[in-house]
Amino acid sequence: MGSELSVRLNGIEVGTLSLINGKMEFLYNDDAEFPISLSLPLSKEPYKEKICRAYFGGLLPENPNMRELLAKKYKININNDFKLLEAIGRDCAGAISFYQKSEPELEENFIKIKGRILSDNELKKLIEELPYKPYMGNRISLAGAQEKTAVCVIDGEIAMPEDNIPTTHIIKTALPKYAQSIQNEYICMKLASKMGIDVPNVEIKNVDGLEFLLVERFDRIINQYCDGNVSDIDDYTSDCDSCTNHIQMQCLRMKRILQEDFAQSFGVQSRDKYDVTFKDCLWVLNQTTTPARIKLEFVKRVVFNYLIGNTDAHSKNFSLSFYAPNDIDLTPAYDLLCTSVYDCDQRIAMKIGKAKFYKDVTEKDWELFAQDIDISPKIVKSELEHQRKLIIPALEDILKDYSCEIGNKISEYIQSNL
Ligand SMILES: Nc1ncnc2c1ncn2[C@@H]1O[C@H](COP(=O)(O)OP(=O)(O)O)[C@@H](O)[C@H]1O
Ligand SMILES: [Mg+2]
Repeated sequence: MGSELSVRLNGIEVGTLSLINGKMEFLYNDDAEFPISLSLPLSKEPYKEKICRAYFGGLLPENPNMRELLAKKYKININNDFKLLEAIGRDCAGAISFYQKSEPELEENFIKIKGRILSDNELKKLIEELPYKPYMGNRISLAGAQEKTAVCVIDGEIAMPEDNIPTTHIIKTALPKYAQSIQNEYICMKLASKMGIDVPNVEIKNVDGLEFLLVERFDRIINQYCDGNVSDIDDYTSDCDSCTNHIQMQCLRMKRILQEDFAQSFGVQSRDKYDVTFKDCLWVLNQTTTPARIKLEFVKRVVFNYLIGNTDAHSKNFSLSFYAPNDIDLTPAYDLLCTSVYDCDQRIAMKIGKAKFYKDVTEKDWELFAQDIDISPKIVKSELEHQRKLIIPALEDILKDYSCEIGNKISEYIQSNL
């Protein structure tokens, strides 16, 4: 274990992360072609601790309990982001991974998904143990405060990926302090989809009575290969001849897509994620390829969060995908939860105008919000009206098939807020 880590983008080194006198530094390789973050433009000068903590540290779990368990497991200091990345930074959000400098590079084009399907008992144990024995598989790191892990799904079954194979799905477990949090998130994600917001596929799964949320990763592109037919993939690389006799499920291949959350884009550390304002977001939105379109999408999500009472839409709950240097887009929406049904801090993560609570938002605040993200107030107003009309029928549609107590509470909250 050295004090340098090779930082790889789709398997190829782009720079080195060093630990010097307890502080991180990142230096791009001379031949790096593409910045890995808006906060890390290509440069010949090293980036210092503060920005490294924001971007690289921003890839790590935030849950103190989880960090403590990891620190114990790997015998490292809980605050040592470098060592944590060394320990678990193989499969992060996006396409960045961390290796020892001596480990050979392996370009990742389309990686064959390989893994061992878990038995129900194994899966149940893995999920039950998460709060005290975090499953980091082949070194998985995901931000966020909630206990979670990531897995591969092969032919509809949950599998533990083989060494160095990235995961395809995230597992989120029930939050003990928030009743039916999984069902809540499931309903909000499905509702967002019905309202025309791009969201990943989510499912509630049940293993021997234990429910969990299975979220498809949008930072992985999956192609199904069958009978060795690879004609539609330009940059297909390796051994697909051997696929000829395989059944389709064994021929799934994936590519990682670079992504970062808004806090990382700004160089803001995870602990300061609530400091980012809508005004700040404008800068990020303007870095995308089609800002005008992206701003409309952003308004849609902010209005949706307001209507469903999701107070926790902070800067790490919005992300960008970098499909190519000139193709930067918002990722699908994630982590949507009606937090307003719980007895918790009801301050909104980003103030709308001057309002700190959803209940206080006025028309004037929406105008100020529109100003903050430099969009016509009329657009915001009409989006509000549009969603107000659609949201209850859309929710009823979901609850018809998925009726539950939390669904009724969400419905009550939304209706009382319309
Ligand atoms: N479907 C997804 N695909 C890819 N990355 C995701 C997806 N959902 C969440 N993430 C990443 O994982 C992080 C944690 O997920 P999130 O659902 O926000 O968990 P938490 O409830 O703990 O905040 C996010 O900040 C984002 O970077
Ligand atoms: Mg989150």
